[in-house]
Amino acid sequence: MEKHSIYEPFGVDLDLVQGILREPDNHLIRKASSMKGHYADAKALDDLIHQGDPLHYEVFEKEVPQAYGHLMFGISKLQPGTVNGECFMTKGHYHAIPETAEVYLCLCGKGYMLMKTTEGECRAEYMERGRIVYVPPYWAHRSVNVGSEPLTTLFIYPADAGHNYGDIEQEGFPKRIYLRHGKVEIV
Ligand code: F6R
Ligand code: ZN
Repeated sequence: MEKHSIYEPFGVDLDLVQGILREPDNHLIRKASSMKGHYADAKALDDLIHQGDPLHYEVFEKEVPQAYGHLMFGISKLQPGTVNGECFMTKGHYHAIPETAEVYLCLCGKGYMLMKTTEGECRAEYMERGRIVYVPPYWAHRSVNVGSEPLTTLFIYPADAGHNYGDIEQEGFPKRIYLRHGKVEIV
């Protein structure tokens, strides 16, 4: 008979004001300089980098085995701002196992989950506090902050999914999200 390995249950605390996971095992920091090639205006991004390379986003995770059956979860915290009008965003990725989905619960801020398929279908799903977005299998996904405070989301996905950033670096997304004169434009 197959023997199941029993993993120890655990709980974690969120700081809902700061939008962070308390005592994360992994804390990833991405500054503006990590985002080269992702914004339409490369010169405006370079200017931002030279003006101090501000924090772009952070990911806080608890460590779980990256194995079938486990769920990876954590907090993604994306700062507000624009690069010549284009709203701050995450790099975006497909999952390395593309048939794995992901759930995002927005805890604070306002933004969109921008999603695309390899066939070029593109969707932008609105996010604000209390809203859940389902990213189905095969959809690449990127968070975009259109508000004036950090966009903080709780994410949960199969722990063995892995990340494929390379294809998005090559393809980009078919749509970009701008904030112009206080109005959101998805173009
Ligand atoms: C995990 C996931 C999120 C993102 C995070 C940062 O599968 O989708 O945890 O990793 O929002 O975005 P990326 O990974 O695109 O830099
Ligand atoms: Zn993902």
